[in-house]
Amino acid sequence: MRTNVRYFQKQKDNGTPISMITAYDATQGQIVEQAGIRVILVGDSLGMVVQGYENTVPVTLEDIVYHTSLVRRGTKEAFIVGDMPFMTYNASPKQAIENAARILQDGGAQSVKVEGGQRMYNTIRKLAKNGIPVMAHIGLTPQAVHSIGGWRVQGKSKSGAAQLIEDAEAVQEAGAYAVVLELVPAELARIISERLIIPTIGIGSGGGCDGQVQVFHDIVGLTMGRTPKHAKQYTNTAILMENAISEYIQEVESGTFPTEGNAPSVNDEVLETIYSVAKDSESNQQDTNS
Ligand code: KIV
Repeated sequence: MRTNVRYFQKQKDNGTPISMITAYDATQGQIVEQAGIRVILVGDSLGMVVQGYENTVPVTLEDIVYHTSLVRRGTKEAFIVGDMPFMTYNASPKQAIENAARILQDGGAQSVKVEGGQRMYNTIRKLAKNGIPVMAHIGLTPQAVHSIGGWRVQGKSKSGAAQLIEDAEAVQEAGAYAVVLELVPAELARIISERLIIPTIGIGSGGGCDGQVQVFHDIVGLTMGRTPKHAKQYTNTAILMENAISEYIQEVESGTFPTEGNAPSVNDEVLETIYSVAKDSESNQQDTNS
């Protein structure tokens, strides 16, 4: 049975941290689920780690619906959160409901995630009231990269910290069941986590949050270029893959791959048929040439 939305509050009430990770296809979904992950985010980070864009702005609703459906197919038990892409929920609550419905109905997610605090109050409220569980996302909101002017820690000034506390309280009040805190000073994230009833899920916001979320590629070592400071690379999958592929090339070129065991074996009867077909076609060829 799939994990459901009640899991989040249960974990917070029990004081058990929530481990969440992104995944973008069926294989990754299967791997993270087998490792024990209960919550998967099909993040719009796919724009950067899968599609090769500089930021998340170009990701479309169709991209998220498609990748969510892949993750859904590769998993049996995980709770799946589909990220709402840039400008697919910002125009009005009506637009948000229509597009969130696609992520749930066509993608197979159980929840959506939206970026923004106080300013998203009405949208989160309408989504939640219409049966769409909402994970909020405040602090650094990557879809606002152009207005923020880069990837900056949020909430460092007096007004910034106060705004973040208000944002956190607003999304809870609006009906979000959890909130992502991205790139928030650890002490502020801890204070917010203690104040809120709903769980906070941190990324680059320290250990005082009620859970953590990381990008799959960052922690398995598949991120091309610099891994963000807030991530820990647990293994270097890119090197493992590169080594495996170089070995494959060498074996193909030296003739050591494939071996007999890598091809289908057939019995003597089939072999006889193959030889007789080859012989017939050879004599036909000779007749044509003469
Ligand atoms: O898109 C994403 O992967 C995210 C996480 C970094 C929280 O929003």
